[in-house]
Amino acid sequence: MPEGPSKTAEYVATFRAVESARPPGERLFSDPYAACFLEGRLALGARLARNPLGQRLVCRYIDRNWPGSRPSAVIRTRLIDDSVTAAIEGGAEQLAILGAGYDTRALRLAAARGIPVFELDQPPTQERKKRKLIERDGELPSNVNYVPFDLLEEGVGAPLERAGFRTGLKSVYIWEGVLSYLTPEAVDQTLAWVTASGAAESRLIYTYVDVALLNEGGEDRPPWSAQVAKVGEPFRYGLDPAKMDEFLGSRGLREIRDQSTAEALARHPVPGGRNAPGFYRVAEAEVLPGR
Ligand SMILES: C[S@@+](CC[C@H](N)C(=O)[O-])C[C@H]1O[C@@H](n2cnc3c(N)ncnc32)[C@H](O)[C@@H]1O
Repeated sequence: MPEGPSKTAEYVATFRAVESARPPGERLFSDPYAACFLEGRLALGARLARNPLGQRLVCRYIDRNWPGSRPSAVIRTRLIDDSVTAAIEGGAEQLAILGAGYDTRALRLAAARGIPVFELDQPPTQERKKRKLIERDGELPSNVNYVPFDLLEEGVGAPLERAGFRTGLKSVYIWEGVLSYLTPEAVDQTLAWVTASGAAESRLIYTYVDVALLNEGGEDRPPWSAQVAKVGEPFRYGLDPAKMDEFLGSRGLREIRDQSTAEALARHPVPGGRNAPGFYRVAEAEVLPGR
């Protein structure tokens, strides 16, 4: 784990800032906060992307160096935005974002602004996020509870309950871009907590890397795995989409959907998205009654 704020979280914020700079009728979402989390070359890239030529050059640069990562992050953001809104409109009363990084759904999504949101992350990333939001807006959103934690050390339950997360309510949980960095034990403990804390029909929305790719060696590894390893956040955990039913079922959950970002991009195209890899997946599961 890196000692300072997460660099991968800043990369995701960069991709969101670049997408948000596209014209309103074309972009898949608008995250007006994403740019405030960026510094140095990443901030410069986001600024350049505000004009059409800069947008093309910046996307080309990112896509050449990190093939597929930008369109994958963009489409996953849109899919998760839609799922979170649907879950809250379907009755979820609280939202927990595990490994929140620079996720700004608590501010961006109208549905999320109306319920308590619990954002969990390691302290360096969370403190930096709070500082940047205060620099931008002079205040923090009143519906957000910032919960410092380390999933590999304390786990998720105790810190969340201390922060006021209410067990037994219909809830929605986001686990975006985090599973790949965890251990099997931490994943199991978190899922056990999700099913113990959320009422039946609570939703867990998560992304994961197809384990087949992690098992490959050399050039078949995910194309951006070398970069995430270089910043101290290597991919080390994956799941098998063919065995997802069994994996979830034995943990008190039921699959709602599971698709690769490449499949989703075929329906919501973004420039440069045609070469997105099939190994990165966005999935949603529901807590079963009477676990
Ligand atoms: C790739 S970023 C994704 C951030 C955010 N979910 C998003 O999609 O914008 C991974 C996040 O997971 C967090 N993370 C990784 N390992 C963690 C751990 N052991 N405990 C808590 N957070 C962790 C990092 O701090 C970082 O914010």
